Amino acid sequence: ALLGSFSNLLGEVDEAGVATLTLNRPKQLNALNSELMGELVAACQYLDRKHPSARVIIVTGSGSKAFAAGADIKEMSSVTYSEAYNKGLLDGWETLRTIRKPIIAAVNGFALGGGCELAMLADIIIAADSASFGQPEINLGVLPGMGGTQRLTRAVGKSRAMELVLTGDRLSAAEAVSLGLASRAVPAAELMETTQKLARRIAAASLPVAAKAKECVNQAYEMTLAEGVRFEKREFWSCFALADQKEGMAAFIEKRTPVFGDS
Ligand code: CAA
Repeated sequence: ALLGSFSNLLGEVDEAGVATLTLNRPKQLNALNSELMGELVAACQYLDRKHPSARVIIVTGSGSKAFAAGADIKEMSSVTYSEAYNKGLLDGWETLRTIRKPIIAAVNGFALGGGCELAMLADIIIAADSASFGQPEINLGVLPGMGGTQRLTRAVGKSRAMELVLTGDRLSAAEAVSLGLASRAVPAAELMETTQKLARRIAAASLPVAAKAKECVNQAYEMTLAEGVRFEKREFWSCFALADQKEGMAAFIEKRTPVFGDS
């Protein structure tokens, strides 16, 4: 079913609970203006907490050329420091960190600047073989402002991140996979099918367990190993409060497919 009416976004949710949000400014290569940011964040919050059946969120770009070519340069070009500071330019994107359902970025072309950073805000990146990733902000007289200096460094290591951020050079899809930035690269024509297949597998899991597992993996970015392992242990133990743990283990023992009730 279609999801609301947006100016810069297409949204739908299928029978399996897979929501697809398509950045829809193809003429501007899906440049991320503030209206699009507001719509994407609101759509994700709605899908996460209020939608009756959404279980996994896919974010992709419309057209064959770009996932997103970055924050909207035309919108930003005349912004003053005081406006950027007082309005918190681009800080709305961090709201995506509060989304509990898994988010998959299906990167169908350029993922540059804020586009690369949006992909890295997702939990899994699947790249079309035609995709390219980069942080070209240095060429615009700015630096990555949607988490790129932090998330790219954690994804590919300091030396490579530094080189990318200081030169603005791009990575191919194959390089992104070999560095661990993306999970896999697939032929462009198969991108959505592959991503949907993966999303449907994740959608079959118990929703609270998937959300807990996502939260635990993300804690690896936030905590020391000892704290992270303690966090994980508590979440692991908490699974035993769920009927889904009983169902999952009973189904294994009885050699059948589990039917999770999300409780
Ligand atoms: N903002 C606004 N408009 C953009 C845009 C962006 N980030 N990227 C592309 N567009 C627009 C172009 O201005 C052009 O519009 P017009 O037809 O009205 O001129 C249209 O999209 C098509 O783009 P091109 O003609 O440039 O297409 P191309 O095939 O020649 O080049 C490209 C493709 C290499 C991706 C090139 O568009 C490009 O370099 N884009 C900018 C990439 C960039 O610097 N991104 C970082 C933005 S800053 C940022 O993101 C800050 C942050 O950290 C959050």
